[in-house]
Amino acid sequence: MSSPKVTNPELADHSRKILVAVVDAHQGHRQQVVSALMSFYQVAAFDSFDHAMEKLAKTPPCVVLLDEQVLPRMGGDPIGITRKLLKGVPIIRTLARPISQLGSAAYDTDACLEKPYRRSTLIKTISGLVNKTVEAEWENLAPQYKESLRRTVDSFNNISDLIDKGQPLVYTEITEACGPLVDAVSNHDFKVILNGVKGHDNYSYVHSLRVATLLSLFGHTIGLKGEDLNLLATGGLLHDIGKMGIPHEVLNKPGRLDDVELQVMRSHVPRSVDYLKLCEHLPKGVLTIAAQHHEKLDGTGYPAGLQGSQLNELARMASIVDIFGALTDRRVYKEPMSPEDALTMMVERMGNEIDTSLLALFRAMLLDAATPTA
Ligand SMILES: [Fe+2]
Ligand SMILES: [Fe+2]
Repeated sequence: MSSPKVTNPELADHSRKILVAVVDAHQGHRQQVVSALMSFYQVAAFDSFDHAMEKLAKTPPCVVLLDEQVLPRMGGDPIGITRKLLKGVPIIRTLARPISQLGSAAYDTDACLEKPYRRSTLIKTISGLVNKTVEAEWENLAPQYKESLRRTVDSFNNISDLIDKGQPLVYTEITEACGPLVDAVSNHDFKVILNGVKGHDNYSYVHSLRVATLLSLFGHTIGLKGEDLNLLATGGLLHDIGKMGIPHEVLNKPGRLDDVELQVMRSHVPRSVDYLKLCEHLPKGVLTIAAQHHEKLDGTGYPAGLQGSQLNELARMASIVDIFGALTDRRVYKEPMSPEDALTMMVERMGNEIDTSLLALFRAMLLDAATPTA
């Protein structure tokens, strides 16, 4: 008999591939932009305004980069036409002269980049606009979903600012921000939340939100309540917080990490722990989730190589959710694995590394969530 399938679309395809359009008549610039973006985004490049509009009206991108030299010179309102044809897609104007020369026209587009600009500035600008669009869509959701997403992303961004300033986070603020998420999950209302981060371009936030949601759902399924569920949601949101200090090139490297990069990547665990220790009144469980979520029962995990009973129950749960989350996440270098394939792989290949009884409960929980209700 074949095993039941976990074909929940909310769990499977949580992130569409982000399409960025580049419209620039200069072949050299166009190619530079394409090669700067291609490992992060799907890129469509055009050398003429008319050709671009004809194609993009049929397949709208998430963001369009419009070089001013490609804009039709004679009359009309090319930015207005672009807005109308692409129905609100954010426009970045690129120009080979000082932005100050644009005068009030600088406000016609969502952003302006003066050539030459840095690759990191380009990526940050695109990312910010993509996220603004995704987050604006949350306004149309029912309050419990809107609050779950809005408050967690605000907290996440706030923590990033605090880390930059070397200041500790305030635990009560984070746990309160996770309140709507815990309430929604306790009512089994989590699919809209996972759907809400489709297309969001802050991978660390998307992964942490997914772990927070599935970890608190896991806790709810095994009968935990109140403070314990809050702790799981908060622990999920904070478990990889040390990744905020890892360079973008390592964090989003499209290829395999070399030994040095792997060490840098793995340092996110002690970084998380060191940062969380600055925080007053942090429950020990949150620290344990951050410290132990990459440990494995057979001792092959990191950073401490803990074994068997040395692994806390919370960390065992977090490890299962984190592995499932990573396998089913879309990354710049891989398509998401289906929930079914991820669970099969975990059952078949990770029996020595993860707690198999908890994995069976987690799998049953996802099967239950995937079963359509009448
Ligand atoms: Fe991690
Ligand atoms: Fe993680």
